[in-house]
Amino acid sequence: MSNKCVVIGVTGGIAAYKALDVISTLRKKNIDTHVIMTDSATKFVTPLSFQSLSQNLVVTDMFAEPRAWEIQHISLAKKADLMLIVPATANIIGKVANGIADDMLSTTIMATKAPVVFAPAMNTNMYDNPIVQKNIDKLKEFGYAFIEPASGRLACGDTGRGKLEDTKLISDIVASMIYDTKDLEGKKVLVTAGPTIAPIDPVRFITNRSTGKMGYAIAEEARDRGAQVTLITGPTSLETPFGVDVVKVNTNEEMLRVILDKYETSHIVIKSAAVADYKPKNYSEEKIKKKEENLLLEFERDNDILNLLGKEKRNQILVGFAAESSNVLNNAKDKLKRKNLDYIVANDISSKDTGFASDNNKVIILDNKGEELYLDTMSKRAVAKHLFDLINKRR
Ligand code: CTP
Repeated sequence: MSNKCVVIGVTGGIAAYKALDVISTLRKKNIDTHVIMTDSATKFVTPLSFQSLSQNLVVTDMFAEPRAWEIQHISLAKKADLMLIVPATANIIGKVANGIADDMLSTTIMATKAPVVFAPAMNTNMYDNPIVQKNIDKLKEFGYAFIEPASGRLACGDTGRGKLEDTKLISDIVASMIYDTKDLEGKKVLVTAGPTIAPIDPVRFITNRSTGKMGYAIAEEARDRGAQVTLITGPTSLETPFGVDVVKVNTNEEMLRVILDKYETSHIVIKSAAVADYKPKNYSEEKIKKKEENLLLEFERDNDILNLLGKEKRNQILVGFAAESSNVLNNAKDKLKRKNLDYIVANDISSKDTGFASDNNKVIILDNKGEELYLDTMSKRAVAKHLFDLINKRR
């Protein structure tokens, strides 16, 4: 359960209804939300909608009869771990940039010591107006953060910059900024995820069932804890995570090349990718035509990337995965030793509700000192959290 509080300032733009979605997503992450609406925002969406979703009273009027003894703009300013202005109009940006505090929202922004994030949304010409841009630059210089608007078709019918950024992305960025632990600050974390593919001919390849979910969850956890993250990923259908340097690869060979390039400067390397151990011995430049007889393909061994990394290891913390369908513990212990790893995350892939494609996983984490951590079934993100907790405990 998070004990974090985000104060959301809603200003008067057509995108005001999207702020409801941001609040709903933050609430699902167990983040407490308090809403301050400007007068014009209330013309677009009613305070009642925000009240219902935030489950807190919505503040609109600076001079309303106080509902408690506190001075509201001060108490919210103090309560906030972060303030998010969504959508942020040219008006609120201009006011704050010029020190104007004439309503509940602008006074609270002025009074808070918490980080303030603006997510602007407005007509392209307004957004591109040099006055607005100058105000944004000025606010950035003072340390205010911005989630830049996207380009697209705007409510007025124009096309261009000014569309509120995706609400899930806004919520994820905010949650990341106020994440509890920032114990990986200054660390470079290299994560591999997903399957690799081995081409047979120009139209065919073999691959495996890995979806990349575990590796992506690890990359996101590391990012939220403050690390500089590189994610080397085979083909997956997952959304590219923000704030992570993503390198897309296809084959075992490509993955190896990128890893070797980054290995020496990485502090923690986590290999959750399901790398193909074999590739067709002879790649056919031409599409293989069907014939009457059976088709026989010969496969040859490909690189064992983790094994190579284990051999070249200096100060890196090297973490491998062991996907096993039987004899989980012994196979994992063997791989930990054989590949010179610091940790191995072992999972039993025979279970239906965990492992490949599932959002959950049930793992045992082993370290090279003989410690074993048995985890219950939990989200892949929670597994990632336990893994970094363990690594940081021992560092
Ligand atoms: N791995 C790798 N290169 C390979 C195969 C696996 O780097 N060619 C890495 C995986 O990313 C994982 C670990 O090795 O971190 C274990 O992968 P797994 O497929 O469970 O084991 P293998 O080493 O391939 O052994 P086996 O086939 O005997 O299970």
